[in-house]
Amino acid sequence: GASAMLSGLQLDTQKSLMDSVHKRTDDCRKEPISIVVLGASGDLAKKKTFPALFSLFYHDLLPDDFQIVGYARRDMSDDEFRELILGSLTCRVLDGRKCSEKMDQFLPRCRYHKGSYASEEDMASLDKLTADFEEQRGVSNRLFYLAVPPSVFEDACHSIHRAARGAKGWTRVIVEKPFGRDLASYVHLQASLSSSFSEEEVYRIDHYLGKELVQNLMTLRFANSIFEPLWNHHHIESVQISFKEPFGVEGRAGYFNDFGIVRDIMQNHLLQALALLAMETPVSLSGEDIRNEKVKVLRQVKPLTIDDFVLGQYKAANGKPGYFDDDGVPKNSTTPTFASCVFHIPNRRWEGVPFLMRAGKALDERKAEIVIQFKPAPGDIFNVPESMKSNCLVIRVQPDEAIYMKIISKAPGLTSRLEQARLNLFYREAWEESKDIPDAYERLILDAIQGEKSLFIRDDELRVAWQIFDTALKQMEGDRAPKPAAYNYGSAGPIEAERQAFKLGLQWI
Ligand code: NDP
Ligand code: BG6
Repeated sequence: GASAMLSGLQLDTQKSLMDSVHKRTDDCRKEPISIVVLGASGDLAKKKTFPALFSLFYHDLLPDDFQIVGYARRDMSDDEFRELILGSLTCRVLDGRKCSEKMDQFLPRCRYHKGSYASEEDMASLDKLTADFEEQRGVSNRLFYLAVPPSVFEDACHSIHRAARGAKGWTRVIVEKPFGRDLASYVHLQASLSSSFSEEEVYRIDHYLGKELVQNLMTLRFANSIFEPLWNHHHIESVQISFKEPFGVEGRAGYFNDFGIVRDIMQNHLLQALALLAMETPVSLSGEDIRNEKVKVLRQVKPLTIDDFVLGQYKAANGKPGYFDDDGVPKNSTTPTFASCVFHIPNRRWEGVPFLMRAGKALDERKAEIVIQFKPAPGDIFNVPESMKSNCLVIRVQPDEAIYMKIISKAPGLTSRLEQARLNLFYREAWEESKDIPDAYERLILDAIQGEKSLFIRDDELRVAWQIFDTALKQMEGDRAPKPAAYNYGSAGPIEAERQAFKLGLQWI
């Protein structure tokens, strides 16, 4: 029945592609590497970077000969650093077989180096430490992971460039978002980065591109013949891209209040999903070809203004704190913790199709989802109720990865009753491997080690991404910033977002 039909969606393994991935992994495993995590004492390093590195090691994907150096300003011995890593390993392989054995092999290869990010002298002593490791091996590949606040990016890059580049191998730098706070500050940041590193060497991370379902978007669209003919304004009514989180800014207000939900989630994570959904077929699967198509469609997106937005801010409810209860949020803050907006892409494929996007913190559930809503079948002979008229293709990025289609079906039995039914591809049920879906950071760090850039953001992509949001962001901020609509912690967000969709004849799904 339904699931058998959808098994057509279970994409055949492309043997040649997999062979080249394995070959790349095998080749890279032979080259020794030093991985330096700057900001090793911080939240991201603890929550994502070290767990991802350990998981790669656990799965035998790191180069055979590697060392990891944690770098930060505070005092710590190697042993204290290892304790810190050990305590933070909340990663998915903890229940795995032989995990503690693997951990015992991993930890001795991690060391700590105290230093300040701007100091060339400190960086030079890091260089010495890594050079010692590299000398006997004759190669000096170095991957720097900048898990530091954005205010430190530039200084860190300069001092790495001046004092800690590898001498006989490649140097790569993984930079975390936010990449500036608007086009002008991004251009400034980029000018500074490019005085230290070439575009080849810089890996701008957007971890949503490492998520399994975001990766599957291209396969779904371009490896199947059933979707592409429908993928345009003739057949698609609307597209919805939605991110919901059931917790507030808890502890991150210092960062968040400066940036807000539009910069934190929409301008990067969700815009990337939009680009992959809306772009034309790339010439090939090469990183450059894919990014060329993303840039092309992003240039066709109509830049947003404040009128395209509904903004919200959560307030205390259900025993949970409001945004203002967090230390570091000024009492007059107008920073949105929720936003919904409507994009238009007036090109040949998408003219007239609204792309709705929403993102919010402190909402009723954790969910990241894309919904493609199709137009109702013309010449309806069934009198299909309005509420189930449209077929929807749902791509659930998280939690519980799935792709499913809502269709209209006759309910079984001696009845002609219509029901909305589902054609389901639940990853959990379809694939044994889905129990072991890698964290996005694992894939991205592995790609950076292997020099594979297609899942990283290119300079021109970021410029156009900022161009889309710049005007609206300016209008949201400053003296005349509108007050965001209040919504309860744990609710579905402000009612104004429902009204915004309703005005377009749509409903959030
Ligand atoms: P933290 O605030 O935890 O900072 C990381 C480390 O940097 C700290 O442990 C501290 O180490 C050092 N540091 C902190 N403030 C300063 C400062 N003002 N000057 C110099 N050094 C400082 O940040 P996160 O780990 O949360 O984030 C790191 C980067 O990753 C940021 O760019 C962030 O936007 C990005 N990011 C974070 C995510 C997360 O979930 N945390 C998710 C996605 C992106 P020490 O004092 O020991 O040197
Ligand atoms: C980060 C944001 O980029 O993504 C956070 O800074 C957000 O605010 C996080 O919580 C969400 O990532 P994930 O992978 O948990 O959906």
